[in-house]
Amino acid sequence: MATQPNIKLHDGNKMPQLGLGVWKASNEEASNAVTTAINTGYRHIDTAAIYKNEEGVGEALSGIKVPREELFITTKLWNDDQLHAEKALEESLKKLRLDYVDLYLIHWPKPDEGNYVEAWKQILKLKEQGLAKSVGVCNFNIPHLQKLKDETGIFPVVNQIELHPMLQQRQLHAWNATHNIATESWSPLAQGGEGVFDQALIQKLAEKYEKTPAQVVIRWHLDNGLIVIPKSVTPKRIHENFDVFDFKLEREELAEIAKLDLNKRLGPDPDTM
Ligand SMILES: NC(=O)c1ccc[n+]([C@@H]2O[C@H](COP(=O)([O-])OP(=O)(O)OC[C@H]3O[C@@H](n4cnc5c(N)ncnc54)[C@H](OP(=O)(O)O)[C@@H]3O)[C@@H](O)[C@H]2O)c1
Repeated sequence: MATQPNIKLHDGNKMPQLGLGVWKASNEEASNAVTTAINTGYRHIDTAAIYKNEEGVGEALSGIKVPREELFITTKLWNDDQLHAEKALEESLKKLRLDYVDLYLIHWPKPDEGNYVEAWKQILKLKEQGLAKSVGVCNFNIPHLQKLKDETGIFPVVNQIELHPMLQQRQLHAWNATHNIATESWSPLAQGGEGVFDQALIQKLAEKYEKTPAQVVIRWHLDNGLIVIPKSVTPKRIHENFDVFDFKLEREELAEIAKLDLNKRLGPDPDTM
């Protein structure tokens, strides 16, 4: 089985750098995908209350033989529950059939509603209670992150943001790094690779390393120090996306991929979502 790297979080916990995302998977698809992934060697799964597939993930987790402490399970607090984090996490845990999650994330800041600092205070308590080993956020921009620090003294360990070759978020990634916040890429394959996999540069690198365009893009995330959670419900792709630990991109190749940045979002803007 391939050795997979971990990222050390600022609370001392470790997180596998590559995981499986399950957005848009039904319960049945998520259950099958998680089982395939764990059997392939993945130890990190990324779901969310709003994906409505925590039950499927839980079903898979209850059927596998890997010890709980070797797994890293993330779920997320949905926007409507920002003032009821404890109840929301209890419901997620029940569906996941777990006593704790490894990472609990605020899904969106919703700055117009003004509740994200309160949500952060609530999930810090859930960490104290041991219901979440680590706590973080998704889709937070610099002012949102700074506000958490100003009001509670504590930065999230992870900021999960949309990030792929067409939206490289270099400024936010660098700011996160300066403050010891790990950056995690969502939609790392640009939601199926359109506009990325067909780039001549990506094709050339795939040929050079005898890998697929998806593997080159996943390697680009890893080589940039990003946590990456490609989603697939297709067994062949779940294997393919994990078969990335036997090559590395060169510094000049990373610099070439940096030029593909179009600052193009596929998802909503966190300031207005
Ligand atoms: N925090 C947030 O706000 C947020 C937002 C969006 C996503 N996320 C998380 O990030 C995860 C990944 O993002 P995503 O699901 O949006 O998109 P993605 O991982 O960039 O792309 C997934 C798409 O790519 C296809 N695919 C996967 N591997 C492939 C391969 N090797 N070759 C060709 N196509 C491939 C999948 O198809 P099949 O499944 O049919 O194989 C699926 O259509 C999500 O599942 C979720 O866990 C978080």
